[in-house]
Amino acid sequence: MSYGSRLAAVMTQRLGRECVYTPSARLALYLALRHWCRPGARVLMSPVNDDVILFVVLAAGLRPVQAPVSPTDGNIDPAAVPESTWRTVDAVLTTNLYGMPDRVVELRRRCDQLGIPLFEDAAHAIGTRVDGQPVGTFGRAAAFSLSKHVAAMAGGFLAVEDARTRRELERARDELLVPRSLRADLTTTLRPLARSGVRTLHLVRPVWRTMQHLGMLERDEFRMDLHAPRLADCAAKAPSLTAYEPWIRVDLHGFRSRHGPLVRGQLKLRTDRLDADLARRRVGAALLSGTAWASPALRDRPAGGAPHPLFRVPLLVHDRDVLLDRLVRHGVVAGYVYDPPLDDYAGAEFVEPSPDPTAARWFASHVLPADPLLARRITKALTKEKAGPAHPPLAAPVPESTPPTPLSQ
Ligand SMILES: Cc1ncc(COP(=O)(O)O)c(C=O)c1O
Repeated sequence: MSYGSRLAAVMTQRLGRECVYTPSARLALYLALRHWCRPGARVLMSPVNDDVILFVVLAAGLRPVQAPVSPTDGNIDPAAVPESTWRTVDAVLTTNLYGMPDRVVELRRRCDQLGIPLFEDAAHAIGTRVDGQPVGTFGRAAAFSLSKHVAAMAGGFLAVEDARTRRELERARDELLVPRSLRADLTTTLRPLARSGVRTLHLVRPVWRTMQHLGMLERDEFRMDLHAPRLADCAAKAPSLTAYEPWIRVDLHGFRSRHGPLVRGQLKLRTDRLDADLARRRVGAALLSGTAWASPALRDRPAGGAPHPLFRVPLLVHDRDVLLDRLVRHGVVAGYVYDPPLDDYAGAEFVEPSPDPTAARWFASHVLPADPLLARRITKALTKEKAGPAHPPLAAPVPESTPPTPLSQ
């Protein structure tokens, strides 16, 4: 039996796709990019994404090409990607930001036309469906993260189309895993328990502030320090996971650890509770979707009207940064803010900038990712803080097409 196959089997049953267990979604994405893209290939992606993913793309030796996005959900807007860009990209990577689905049907169609792979980052979107089909089953491969949905702080999957590819990727994964230590396994098992203890005891605010003061957080800002000269030096070593490890491991140092039975046993228990977790997320997402701060994208309900079981609910607010700070007083630490967009953060040396960065800048600076499991507390806090709803700028009108010249008879 291959490593992690019991956990992978659970996911295979959910998705109907072959799955490879990985210690993190970031490792799953790295495996997919290395398997299907030659070094130097150009990958279209959203600039409203975790910086860790940018470094995964760079580590795979690829050029991240930033796409225009929708101002209501931060995901790639395929219609706004210039034809000249479509003609020169070699792959597309979705985000499914906060669990809101990418425009996968359209992206899949474009990728098929161009004969390039579509990779789905489903780290935020384990339970999201599009036309009844699970996100993560539209592309050539998809990455999932257990750190997000069941708060396990470890674990991920790569879903692929067939058993032969799965076996190849299992071998590639085994080469990248580093040996576990019992101490690291214990820490990985205890950290989620400590976190829920802090929450239950209403200690979120003092613990968070203390960590801030002691410099225990890996990021001072929403983005980690780029260390541009060191990053530039790494380019000569790409593709290489090891060279980029100082950036890729941020927030999850065990991202490539070969976890032992203790961690995997805990993950199995947590995964068994996934459906209950998703049901609670749906309830919270429905509640937050009905507030004045809800992004208009939340009104696009899937068939049947049930909301997606979101990882975070995108609320759009004025003075977002002030509100984030105030929310800590109410016991809410809202992470997963991806501001500024990756092209503003990393610059043209490391990424190809978006041809139209306006929507990404607007969305990244106004979105407040709300945990649906804390929906009532967040609604109360925002009401108390008199949070002002922000409205996405209207999309620039599409220029009217020139009427076709009548054919001469
Ligand atoms: C959009 C996105 N994709 C992938 C990942 C990586 O997931 P993991 O922490 O399991 O490696 C993250 C992490 O936060 C993320 O936000």
